Amino acid sequence: MSQRNDKLSAETIAAQAAGQIDPVTGAVIAPIHTAVTFARDENYDLRGYMYSRYGTPNCVQVEKVLCGLEQSADAMAFNSGLSAAVAILETLPMGVHIVVPENMYFGVLVWMQRQADKGMLTLSTYTPSDLDSLSAVMQDDTALVWVETPTNPTWAVTDIAGVAALKRDALLVVDSTTAPPPTTQALSLGADFVFHSGTKYLNGHSDVTAGFLATNDLNPRWEDLREVRKLQGTALPGFEAWLLMRGMRTLYVRWDKACENAMKIATYFADHPLIERVQYPGLPGDPGHAVATRQMTRGFGGMMSILPKATQDQSREIASKTELFLPATSLGGVESLIEHRITIEGSDYGVAPNLLRISVGIENADDLIADLEQAISAVLV
Ligand SMILES: Cc1ncc(COP(=O)(O)O)c(C=O)c1O
Repeated sequence: MSQRNDKLSAETIAAQAAGQIDPVTGAVIAPIHTAVTFARDENYDLRGYMYSRYGTPNCVQVEKVLCGLEQSADAMAFNSGLSAAVAILETLPMGVHIVVPENMYFGVLVWMQRQADKGMLTLSTYTPSDLDSLSAVMQDDTALVWVETPTNPTWAVTDIAGVAALKRDALLVVDSTTAPPPTTQALSLGADFVFHSGTKYLNGHSDVTAGFLATNDLNPRWEDLREVRKLQGTALPGFEAWLLMRGMRTLYVRWDKACENAMKIATYFADHPLIERVQYPGLPGDPGHAVATRQMTRGFGGMMSILPKATQDQSREIASKTELFLPATSLGGVESLIEHRITIEGSDYGVAPNLLRISVGIENADDLIADLEQAISAVLV
């Protein structure tokens, strides 16, 4: 990270893409580097890059910007969030004990369970909002504590600093995908690594699959992760990094608007006669509100779940009746999405049959409320 980045606010670093100007042409937008291989200089030394699988100039640029946003010593960009998660597990010795929340993004959990089934690790779960339940499953040799906050898709909040205080020698990884840098800096709260699916808020336009890890602890494990990324071929390619960079420049304004819209929607439906419950940490009555208020310093995000007073089939039908909320998976984009979650995850992960997960975008909040209202009425009235 440059001296210049050290002094600037994260918003400025994001908007200016860390101030990069192409040194050859003066172009204010970085060119897309498609090269697979990079020529050595007249002394036969590398000029910084060697081979695409080891990282490219566009990949390094987004890493530099993420370092500015997370105030981290280093960052690594991957070709998906999942590949970043897989890389972390790959650095752990065989047979280790790891601890994960009982509800979390199911794709990461499925990968961990597959590893457990093969005897590569043992897995215990804790309740994200309850640090005592975490203490109860910690062992002397626990190697990794995985935190996701707020958790997908129930938006339970975990006290990161509280986990850091009781993790002992375990590596603490915080999946901060739904609480990106504008609102939470997990490293400053005691995380060893912060993890993001860059596919979501960081990019914000539903057109790039990407993952990030960032750290302040440049220990041998971090170098090992770089080696794993090299060997697995999971560095973020040039074009995707370029697109991600474009998306990250507007992160702060997109985030603020999504938070504002989500708060209006959550407040409107919290007391709605056809709604059983709204799960959103921004609501004063939400069980995670007190911790979220401390930990999410610039808004509670655009993710929530709405549970209508409806059966599984009726809830699924509501998801098919919205016109602005697109009936699609993923989250964190400028367009609002709705998902009948049990249709996606199945019933093995404890998701309520009537849970509708919504990702609130940056459209007009009143339009979004009217759209949900008409879909709910069409099915339940
Ligand atoms: C909280 C969370 N973590 C991780 C991931 C995985 O990221 P990706 O889809 O970029 O591999 C997702 C994807 O939905 C997610 O929501």
